[in-house]
Amino acid sequence: MQDTERLLASVENYLAQQELPSEPEKLYAPIGYSLSGGGKRLRPMLLMLTCGIFSDRPERAMPAAAAVEVFHNFTLLHDDIMDNAAMRRGKPSVAARWGRNVAILSGDAMLIWAYRLLGQVEPALLPRILAEFNEMAIGVCEGQQYDMDYEERQKVSVVEYMRMIELKTSVLLGGAVVIGALLGGATAEDCARMRKFAIELGLAFQLQDDLLDSYGDERLGKPIGGDILEGKQTYLMITAMSRASEEDREVLRHTHTDPALSPAEKIARVKAVYDKYDIPRLTEQQISLRFERALAQLDTLTAEPGRTATLRRYAESLMGRKH
Ligand code: IPE
Ligand code: IPE
Ligand code: MG
Ligand code: MG
Ligand code: MG
Repeated sequence: MQDTERLLASVENYLAQQELPSEPEKLYAPIGYSLSGGGKRLRPMLLMLTCGIFSDRPERAMPAAAAVEVFHNFTLLHDDIMDNAAMRRGKPSVAARWGRNVAILSGDAMLIWAYRLLGQVEPALLPRILAEFNEMAIGVCEGQQYDMDYEERQKVSVVEYMRMIELKTSVLLGGAVVIGALLGGATAEDCARMRKFAIELGLAFQLQDDLLDSYGDERLGKPIGGDILEGKQTYLMITAMSRASEEDREVLRHTHTDPALSPAEKIARVKAVYDKYDIPRLTEQQISLRFERALAQLDTLTAEPGRTATLRRYAESLMGRKH
């Protein structure tokens, strides 16, 4: 069993040891800024903890774990351009600090860097792991495009939304655990079970991210209400649209573009409709449902039950649960 604190420290350490050239400064400084910016390291942790279920030597998975974290941070550089987000992890986003062009190119360089790290995987496993990584990476792009498309749409169904967040968020968690499982020598069946675990966990995680975007506090590191101001089709918005009266639906549809309102007024007005229809509680219910489904997958693994205890605890602390 591995101690998650120690594991997190070794992930941080491994990332900190990566040397970046100093020139051109505007290409590399944003990469260092992004990678040292205080992320949770969820994806490398999932990869390493999964490897540890199937192997007693998970350390060899570290380059692949770093690759998924670098890839994730690359997606955030581009995501903040696409979402017009000025803050990330309590600091200016790369796009806000250096401009969009820098965020595009530094992001591209991070994607290449992720592949370089992946190239350190043991040669016998590399083709399989590279294929997994590529499927994951293209899935994230598809999800991000649906996310953009839906901002322009009046109506998005819950099924469409779930598919979108599966692609933009869960698929990366799925790729991370399957790569960890492969490096740990898991069977194809156990890889598939771990993927199901991560897909459900990712849905719970993105639903919680949507909820916190409107109902969290400043510890989130991004201003509350960004999704409302951007006109995002989140679980909250879609569920509210399906329950609200026509009058309230008008508020949900048009508030974010109303030039007479300040950002704070827009956020308050939309949240008043969410509160009226009990949307935070309905979202919590969906989060719990998905999280329970994720945990249930761990019981289906062929590994000894004790070997999944650390991952289980880690997932519970991620979702803010004690038991
Ligand atoms: C942010 O991911 C993007 C989403 C999928 C919600 P995280 O919340 O894992 O970001 P960091 O890396 O911990 O900042
Ligand atoms: C991000 O979703 C998913 C990816 C970056 C692929 P969000 O846009 O909700 O993430 P945050 O809220 O900006 O962290
Ligand atoms: Mg986004
Ligand atoms: Mg975003
Ligand atoms: Mg979000």
